[in-house]
Amino acid sequence: MQRLRLGVLGAGRGAGLARAVALAPSVELVAICDADETRRAAACVATGVVGLSDYQALLDSDRVDAVLVASPMPLHVAHSVQALAAGKHVLSEVTAATSLEDCWELLAAVRRSGLVYMLAENYCWYRPWSLVLALVRAGHFGEVYYGEAEQLQEFKGGFKPLDQGGTWRAAELAMRLGNHYITHHLGPLQMAVGQPITQVICHGSGQRHLPWAVADSTNTVLAETSGGAQFRLRLDFFSDRPNSYTYFGLQGTTGAYEAPRAASEEHRLYLHGRTAPGTWESLWNYADQLPAAWADIPPTPARETHDGGAPLMLEAFARAVLDGTPPPVDVALALNLTATGLLSELSRQRGGAPVEVPRFGLR
Ligand SMILES: NC(=O)c1ccc[n+]([C@@H]2O[C@H](COP(=O)([O-])OP(=O)(O)OC[C@H]3O[C@@H](n4cnc5c(N)ncnc54)[C@H](O)[C@@H]3O)[C@@H](O)[C@H]2O)c1
Repeated sequence: MQRLRLGVLGAGRGAGLARAVALAPSVELVAICDADETRRAAACVATGVVGLSDYQALLDSDRVDAVLVASPMPLHVAHSVQALAAGKHVLSEVTAATSLEDCWELLAAVRRSGLVYMLAENYCWYRPWSLVLALVRAGHFGEVYYGEAEQLQEFKGGFKPLDQGGTWRAAELAMRLGNHYITHHLGPLQMAVGQPITQVICHGSGQRHLPWAVADSTNTVLAETSGGAQFRLRLDFFSDRPNSYTYFGLQGTTGAYEAPRAASEEHRLYLHGRTAPGTWESLWNYADQLPAAWADIPPTPARETHDGGAPLMLEAFARAVLDGTPPPVDVALALNLTATGLLSELSRQRGGAPVEVPRFGLR
């Protein structure tokens, strides 16, 4: 079988995805590039591929068909544009861009290149959500008109002021208002509805923990789709509380779903005409409707995490390049999701005023 030869840029998050390639039969890992020698060496030992320190050398290699861009978020567009210009397909880590100008630049570069660009939004392949999506696509939820999700991840110890060693994480996630990590949760919700996001509103609590930070301790985004569906997303990297970053809820005219917020809870489903009225049943009662590809992922605890579907995401990217199937999170969707987060900053600055979100060609 012909395989997609993948080079990885960035041996932090990228090293984890490089290991996931072992479970993606259509992908061959060929090189890992990172300027940091220690990280590069560790990733190369773990995967057995060659290491490079220079990104251009990775792009110049005729052994590389595609690049996984897992560099810091503010560099995704520059590194993706550089890869496309070198004739390499791109799988980009989240989010796609950190400014609206960069969104338009990326769109133009992808269109110009004729190559495949996909956002590596692994939450879209979260195993329980794969099953929810299968049930939605089989019509069990009727028309989906509401979704909600939360990224509650106490991370304030990981942020430092920019003049005291703070990195891009602090710059993007502590020094800006709005939800700039939005694709993890908006992506899966959008997939259940299949319509572009057209408007965003953002409110916030104010910063209650780090005196130097700009971001709200907790913020709420309301996003609306072209067909009037509503999504509510909460982002919180600061509050003192147990983490919960795989909570999703979905409501359709004939079905509802709620993910667990704590280990003691379960994935709950209500389907009109199937579930006893006024009660929940386990989502896993419908496990036979999971996409067949899940049978190839070993049933380890890792499979049940937000990253458990990473091999299926890599496989979807490879099939898009090798067969011409549409990438599930193509450039237009990647930018529509990313721009919703970027424009949530503007809404928050304007006291929660609604802001229109560009569709980037999405219908
Ligand atoms: N999908 C997920 O669940 C998930 C999880 C973690 C991080 N991420 C995303 O992955 C990306 C990377 O995150 P991270 O935690 O690894 O960041 P990081 O800053 O820890 O690592 C980035 C790496 O890229 C390397 N790098 C940057 N520019 C380079 C260049 N020109 N040449 C060679 N090496 C270069 C750096 O040396 C560094 O090791 C971020 O965009 C982040 O949002 C996603």
